[in-house]
Amino acid sequence: MNESTGGGRAGNGTPILEVRDLSVYHGQLRALDALSLRVYPGEVYAIIGANGAGKSTLLRTIAGLHHPQSGSVLFEGTDVTGLRPERRARQGIVMVPEGRRLFGSLSVEENLKVGATYARSGPWTIERVYETFDWMRDRRNQRAQQLSGGEQQTVAIGRALVANPRLLLLDELSLGLAPLIVQRIYGMLPQILETGLTVLLVEQDVSQALRVATHIHCLLEGRTTLEGTPAGVSAEQVEAAYFGLAGTAAVNGHPGEGSVS
Ligand SMILES: Nc1ncnc2c1ncn2[C@@H]1O[C@H](COP(=O)(O)OP(=O)(O)O)[C@@H](O)[C@H]1O
Ligand SMILES: [Mg+2]
Repeated sequence: MNESTGGGRAGNGTPILEVRDLSVYHGQLRALDALSLRVYPGEVYAIIGANGAGKSTLLRTIAGLHHPQSGSVLFEGTDVTGLRPERRARQGIVMVPEGRRLFGSLSVEENLKVGATYARSGPWTIERVYETFDWMRDRRNQRAQQLSGGEQQTVAIGRALVANPRLLLLDELSLGLAPLIVQRIYGMLPQILETGLTVLLVEQDVSQALRVATHIHCLLEGRTTLEGTPAGVSAEQVEAAYFGLAGTAAVNGHPGEGSVS
């Protein structure tokens, strides 16, 4: 299938991220089953899937917070599977975790400073975050727990940006937020992408993912059920892939495209 229209997926060049045959267990439970994917520079690559599909496990494994039982994670062609999370952050893999995980009793600015701990040099500074999200400067001394959910999510994004990621991992930005707020938060993506980074995001809200993504990848019980561009997949295909309805075994796109060993 030709995916040359897939926003940065030109079929040439090195993927910024390659996941090869990744299997991750939580105890006896296999959360990811020989999963493979490739993310190309400049893409907004969306992992979609129902609760429990393995989306967070995937992002956390890419960030170095879970260790795979088998398979590997390559960042810009280099195997980072054995690296600790801080080392990966230094190389440019930075995550906004599910549920935001701010330090509630610390101020907004202190939270942003935490993000700078393993920072690379690059365009993002705390000052730049304030310029981009202008309300934040006025509230920089407030405790994070005093902010609304949407504001906290924005601070969590700011905290990730000050580390100057090359690959930004976003785990369910929409969780617990009103639709209007979710739209506003995703509306910030263009400004973020402008600074030259690549986004791998996880989203349960399929229509939201389809709106912002250049490439989508459906997960069901740790396996790929569908892959392609938003324009190249039908709503019916996505629904079937998401809920695991009969017939989804016929994967559309590039199943296991990372498994060229
Ligand atoms: N730390 C953990 N310990 C045990 N089971 C876990 C843990 N984290 C996730 N799981 C299980 O692994 C599966 C995938 O979870 P997760 O990656 O969080 O899915 P998603 O983010 O798609 O909702 C689920 O069945 C979940 O219950
Ligand atoms: Mg999750």
